[in-house]
Amino acid sequence: MKALLVFLLFSYMTAVNAENTLGLPPVTFPKNNPQSPEKIALGEKLFNDIRFSTTQNISCASCHVSHLAFTDGKSLATGINGLTGMRNSPTLINSAFLTSYFHDGRRPSLESQSKDPLTNPIEHGLGHHSEVLKVILADHSYIASFLSVFGINAKNINLDHVAMAIASYERTLISGNSRFDKYHFDRQKTALSFSEARGLRIFRRKANCANCHEISWDNALFTDNRFYNIGIGFDELRITLPSFLIQAKANVSEAIHNLNTVQKEQLGRFIVTHKPKDIGAYKTPTLRNISLTAPYMHDGSLKTLRDVVEYYDKGGKPNAYLNPAIFPLHLTAQEKEDLIAFLGTLTGYLPDSH
Ligand code: HEC
Ligand code: HEC
Repeated sequence: MKALLVFLLFSYMTAVNAENTLGLPPVTFPKNNPQSPEKIALGEKLFNDIRFSTTQNISCASCHVSHLAFTDGKSLATGINGLTGMRNSPTLINSAFLTSYFHDGRRPSLESQSKDPLTNPIEHGLGHHSEVLKVILADHSYIASFLSVFGINAKNINLDHVAMAIASYERTLISGNSRFDKYHFDRQKTALSFSEARGLRIFRRKANCANCHEISWDNALFTDNRFYNIGIGFDELRITLPSFLIQAKANVSEAIHNLNTVQKEQLGRFIVTHKPKDIGAYKTPTLRNISLTAPYMHDGSLKTLRDVVEYYDKGGKPNAYLNPAIFPLHLTAQEKEDLIAFLGTLTGYLPDSH
């Protein structure tokens, strides 16, 4: 009976999902972490549980708020005790399709990403992952869920199970079927206004946006999962860069160690690859639901989509590592309006809000 109910629930969820995936590729699941309705429910509970923080008031959902497309509306994320981090909280919607996680791509999977915030000193702030397990072991409903989802007894629950459940939940946060999708993939020509449709053309051609915010022939993630220096948040690094590069040639770890916290953060993707071309480079973010996720960029430094369009129009902020695909666009006032209008059409179906 229970199995039947679970099956019905799962079919129902997949059916609901099917309508919302226009414009998206199929979600793929890691072999060692197959999806199940019970695992998703467990993941959602863990995601929203404020007990996994030193101050008992921070959960994943504090910074990834469902009605803000799983962002927080702040320039920089705020964790325990009002402490502020150095990066903007990205949307988790459609993160199932990404090939790396965090703005600098330092984690390869949702499973590996989800353990980090718990012990991050300014996010959940826990001293050690064992504190997560302590909360779980003190809660009978968790123990029962872990048993039915993973077939394990209390003493065998570890953080990998927690991570797998959270990742399973995150893979359900899927959003397609925006007005853009209806227009572009379903050929509903009235789904966009004339201005919005002109904006799509500008996005793909004159403004070169789709060079990185990719639209493929049968789906559009609006990211190519690559990293570029587009000139954001580079100021602290600028002066020290020549001497840093000389030092880095001799000993990269030491050169990084000698930078201050802000400068380290501004290295971007370089922190992961140690390749000079990745200095100040960040992952191309998706633009789906972009109207809901202000402020923008890894440091939240641009407040509105108008600011973003003006930023690209002037060719970004020059620096030695600026990607050549960023150049002055010379858009007319009307073209800017059209492009902004187009970005507004990327809001799709929004996964459940609580
Ligand atoms: C204090 C706010 C805060 C909390 C709490 C928090 N996050 Fe985040 N999250 C962020 C910020 C900021 C980033 C980007 C950090 C970076 O790139 O260095 C991020 C990045 C992510 C990403 C990567 C998305 C991408 O596009 O690369 C995922 C996935 C994620 N968080 C999930 C979670 C989960 C799961 C939890 C709970 C275990 C959590 N977050 C808790 C602020 C937060
Ligand atoms: C060379 C690749 C590239 C091109 C071309 C490009 N972008 Fe981006 N875009 C990025 C990267 C990388 C980021 C993240 C930068 C950061 O966080 O500092 C970004 C960030 C953004 C953001 C902020 C997203 C968020 O969630 O914070 C918006 C909006 C955006 N781009 C729109 C556009 C538009 C509109 C165009 C065309 C005018 C464009 N992009 C052209 C690579 C590109």
